[in-house]
Amino acid sequence: MTLTIRPLHKLFAAELSGVALSGHMTPAELAEIKAALAQYAVCAVGHDRPLSNEDHIAFSALLGPIERGQILKVSGSPDEMRIAHHEIIDQSNMDETGEIYADDDRRLAFKRANRLWHTDMSFHQNRATWSLLSAHMVPPDGAPTEFSDMRAVYDALPDDMKTRIDGLEAEHSYWHSRVLGGGPEPTDEERASRPPARHKLAHTHEPSGRKALYIASHATHIVGWPEDEGRDLLLELMEFATRPEFVYSHDWRVGEVVIWDNLCTIHRATEFDDRQYRRDMRRTTCREHAV
Ligand SMILES: [Fe+2]
Repeated sequence: MTLTIRPLHKLFAAELSGVALSGHMTPAELAEIKAALAQYAVCAVGHDRPLSNEDHIAFSALLGPIERGQILKVSGSPDEMRIAHHEIIDQSNMDETGEIYADDDRRLAFKRANRLWHTDMSFHQNRATWSLLSAHMVPPDGAPTEFSDMRAVYDALPDDMKTRIDGLEAEHSYWHSRVLGGGPEPTDEERASRPPARHKLAHTHEPSGRKALYIASHATHIVGWPEDEGRDLLLELMEFATRPEFVYSHDWRVGEVVIWDNLCTIHRATEFDDRQYRRDMRRTTCREHAV
C-alpha cells in the first residue's frame, strides 16, 4: 500500500488514496492511516463501490473498540433493522423495509436534528473516538457534511476565554439536541435509554497532543452554573467554533468512507429533500473503551 494524502482544507481534513479499507491491513498500514487521522482529523477514503458491511465493520474494529448493539430505543418503532449488523448505525432516511420514512416517523424527526452541529456520542461517559460513515446512496444535490476542527478553534480562542473555560464541565444530553433540532419530546422510555454525561469543555486530544474544545448541540449547561449563564457561554463558544474559516464542507461520492475524530471535531448534516430522495449512509463508531 502506498498511501497518498491530499489536504482538503488549510486547517484539517484530507483525502487518502492508494488504500481500500478492510479488515486485512498490516499493522504498518494501519499505523499510517492512524497517523493521517491524528493530523487531519477528517479523512475521506474513496472506493469504486460502496464498502461491504463486513469490510466496514472489520476495518473499524482495527481502529478501536467499536459500538455493537442498538442502544437507542425510539418509541413505537419496530425492532427489525434495515441493516442486519448491530455494529452499523443506519444513518439513512429509510425505514426497515427500505422505504423513505413517512413524514411523521419519529426516527426521521430525531435524525433531522443531526443538522445541528454536534459530535457523535458526547452524551455517553465513554465517548466516541472515530466515526466511519460510508456512502451507499447519495441524493442528487449531494447533501454535504460540514466539519469544524476544534483544535484550531481552541488555538484561536482569546486567552481570557481559555482561562475562563479551564476546568469547566458541560452536561451533554442526546434528547436536548433532538428537541432543539425540532424533534418530539422524548418519552420516559427513550430518555432512560440515553441518560446524560459530563465532560470537560477543553481537553487534550491525545493522538495529536493538541488542546481541543469539546462541546456542541448535545451540551445543555455548564455544571455548577446557573442554566442561562451556562447556555450563553456555550452559544458564544459555538458561534466562534463554526466561523467559516474553521469549516470544511465535504461533498460525498458513492463508495466513499469518511473517518472523523469526534474528540477534536464537530460536524453537521445539511438539508436535502429527504421525502423524495434516498440517502443511504451507514456509520460505525469507535469508543474510548470497550462497550
Ligand atoms: Fe453525527
